[in-house]
Amino acid sequence: MQSSWLSQFNLSATHEQRLNQFYQNIQSESSQLLGYPCNGIFDYSPLYRFLQYPLNNVGDPYLPSNYHLNTHEFEREVIEIFQKLTAAPPNNTWGYITNGGTEGNHYGLFLARELFPEGIVYYSQDAHYSIDKVLRCLQLNSIMIRSQPDGTMDLQDLRETLRIHRDIPPIVCATIGTTMKGAVDDIAEIQNIFTDLALHRHYLHADAALGGMIMPFLENPPPWNFQAGIDSISISGHKMIGSPLPCGVVLAKQKNVDRIARSVEYIETLDTTLSGSRSAITPLFMWYAFQTIGLAGFQKIVPACLEVADYAVQQLQQLDCHAWRHPYSNTVVFDRPTATVTQRWQLACQGNISHLIAMPHVTPAYVDRLLADMRAAPASMPPSASLAAAEMPDLAGSLDNRDREIILVGSANPNLLTEVATALAAAGISIEGLTAVKVAEGSAIRLNVTDRDRALQILNQTIDAGRRYGQSRSLDAAAQILSQVDYQAVSGEALLVELEDHAGTLATLMKECLTQDIPLRSVRLLWRGQEKAVVELASAEPEKLKVLLADRILIK
Ligand SMILES: Cc1ncc(COP(=O)(O)O)c(C=O)c1O
Repeated sequence: MQSSWLSQFNLSATHEQRLNQFYQNIQSESSQLLGYPCNGIFDYSPLYRFLQYPLNNVGDPYLPSNYHLNTHEFEREVIEIFQKLTAAPPNNTWGYITNGGTEGNHYGLFLARELFPEGIVYYSQDAHYSIDKVLRCLQLNSIMIRSQPDGTMDLQDLRETLRIHRDIPPIVCATIGTTMKGAVDDIAEIQNIFTDLALHRHYLHADAALGGMIMPFLENPPPWNFQAGIDSISISGHKMIGSPLPCGVVLAKQKNVDRIARSVEYIETLDTTLSGSRSAITPLFMWYAFQTIGLAGFQKIVPACLEVADYAVQQLQQLDCHAWRHPYSNTVVFDRPTATVTQRWQLACQGNISHLIAMPHVTPAYVDRLLADMRAAPASMPPSASLAAAEMPDLAGSLDNRDREIILVGSANPNLLTEVATALAAAGISIEGLTAVKVAEGSAIRLNVTDRDRALQILNQTIDAGRRYGQSRSLDAAAQILSQVDYQAVSGEALLVELEDHAGTLATLMKECLTQDIPLRSVRLLWRGQEKAVVELASAEPEKLKVLLADRILIK
């Protein structure tokens, strides 16, 4: 669609130069892409000619519309491939190509809400941030489930939480390849929990942004797809497939989609998707990848990525850096390197861990370049004190036997104890002892309770639910009050210290630990007042840590 009238509108020389400069920057940055799950290898040049037309996939890909410049035909073929990959029954599953993983999650949870408007969504601490955002958009009730140190959903916590809310249909959002650690939630066990608790009305959405294009190509993957009983799934198209424009696919059970479909007169079709106008180019990219690389190609590419991930683990370990990966994931978790390295390699970081993702463009030589940079700029904290160790699944362990105590830390509120006692009493838990100390502008309270784990679960859930919904939802009195105070509940094993809240105090404390050769498993900022902060420290050698901290321990 070219027209001669366009020739009068030209880019100025300055802007032309700016674009050229930008192009050079992108070329250079794309040669050091390790932290994000984008496949950097593709050639879609045969499709460039379609960019001359205002293509648009508005509407349902399976229905005719009066806008004919669309690629619905190709979109349907892509959906059919994903139906095979996810073991979706073709006659009663439906799908469309989304703008990315977030839209797929939004769609899955939208269907769940229309099915169970009163439902509660359960998702893990390691779920992608899009879930939290979608929950706010959909105003769904939700409870965050604890994660294990390896990033998987803590199923004991899920079971206990579901048991408490057995009268409300659960909507579980499982992750098939978590963003930071590549963890795969145990779908089979989630189904067992539904069965054991006789929760017949439930919904299970799988966020398989990256994992959805890894699991189908592995030998004996764990249950993860429609065969394992999921109701919907979201998979990215710009990750393993390598679409240069963000996209994804969502698949769901037809009967749930029928519930939300609305007829729209002016496009003469059904409105079954989340967005109105939709990209018609991204279905072409995905279709092209499947016709060229094909499933046979991905069958080779994915295991090759896992081999490179293994190489990275070995090499990082030789650098004395804690490094590990899940067997079903190309995400390698390791001690956070210096900022120079994380910036140069675009490494995603969370707390004290970083990850690299062995995507198809990442070769052993690529990994070697990262390692060379890490050798040149070693992290200031030696690995013995590194916190990535705390994330290593096999290093987790309990500290001692103070299994009846919990500590509440945060800003003072005269009603807090009454409300905590009310919340615990409702669950049949008694408070048998109590010590309180003042912390800066707040307080720390140690409670002796009859069931420590349940108490922690209830308090954290209540605090979390309270913060999420504030006054807008019909929460019980305890959640209402707990939502208004800045509080954390931790187990009595925690070693808490109060620090001046200014630069350097934490570093000084950590140096002390290092000098005394005390390995730290984790350091967590629990609460921040005006001038002081409360920090929780954990070590595999708690006795040594207690001796070092001695009179600095906040509440003994
Ligand atoms: C597990 C998971 N879910 C969802 C998303 C969001 O995908 P998108 O950025 O395509 O919306 C990501 C992105 O990295 C992810 O890792």
